[in-house]
Amino acid sequence: MKITLNGKERDVEAGRTVLEAAREAGLDIPALCAHDELAPYGSCRLCIVEATERGRKRPKIVASCLYPVKEGLEVQTETERVRRYRRLLIELMLARTPDAPAVKELAAKYRVKKPRFAALNDDCVLCGKCVRVCAEVVGANAIGFAQRGINRRVESPFGKDISRCIACGACTYVCPTGAVQMEFKRTAELRKGKGEHLCRYTVMGLIPDAVCSLNYECFRCEIDQRLRAEAGTHPVFLLARKKEAAEKAGTRKIAKKRIAKKARR
Ligand code: FES
Repeated sequence: MKITLNGKERDVEAGRTVLEAAREAGLDIPALCAHDELAPYGSCRLCIVEATERGRKRPKIVASCLYPVKEGLEVQTETERVRRYRRLLIELMLARTPDAPAVKELAAKYRVKKPRFAALNDDCVLCGKCVRVCAEVVGANAIGFAQRGINRRVESPFGKDISRCIACGACTYVCPTGAVQMEFKRTAELRKGKGEHLCRYTVMGLIPDAVCSLNYECFRCEIDQRLRAEAGTHPVFLLARKKEAAEKAGTRKIAKKRIAKKARR
């Protein structure tokens, strides 16, 4: 389908989001809570753009990571209105996480200096990437959101039970501010335990029956390095790719069965 991005017409595959289409076109849209391998979440709102649907005159502000492309959609990614809203969001984030490099970088880019809001000095921007990777990809559900409003935070169940964590480190890897340290807490706990430790990639189902002989010092581990090289990112995303491939194969199998059934009739 055809859409217009910053005045240029583009062909975009149906089902894509505006953010994906913009990135494919080489446009830079800030998107703190988006990750290619996770479902869109829409919490940071930094990816807002102005979108005008066919037949409408007035553009509306939408979160591009959630907004699907539509035939004839006109999108502007850097209007004064968009920049004004983004500056306000960055100002709020800067008050919350003044030391996070990712937020400081955005503040410099959008010329946000001193926030007008009371400082919270938290590390977490509540983007939810850690919670989503743990639930969607690892399937461990070891962390989640607790509380509401300015007290909202990411926590393990009841604030202390970390037994569901398999120390895969995916949450630490995807965190844009360095706030999530679950992997280190859990590996410290596992090291205290006696007996053999199963390799975290065996627990995840990525490799069969490997036992860790390095006391969870994964940075020294050949398996870890090999899997990281194979994934080109954190090895946990190999799981997501395997699942996707299996789903596609499953769909193909079902389609083949249907065709065979029709042929028999
Ligand atoms: Fe779209 Fe965060 S990237 S809301």
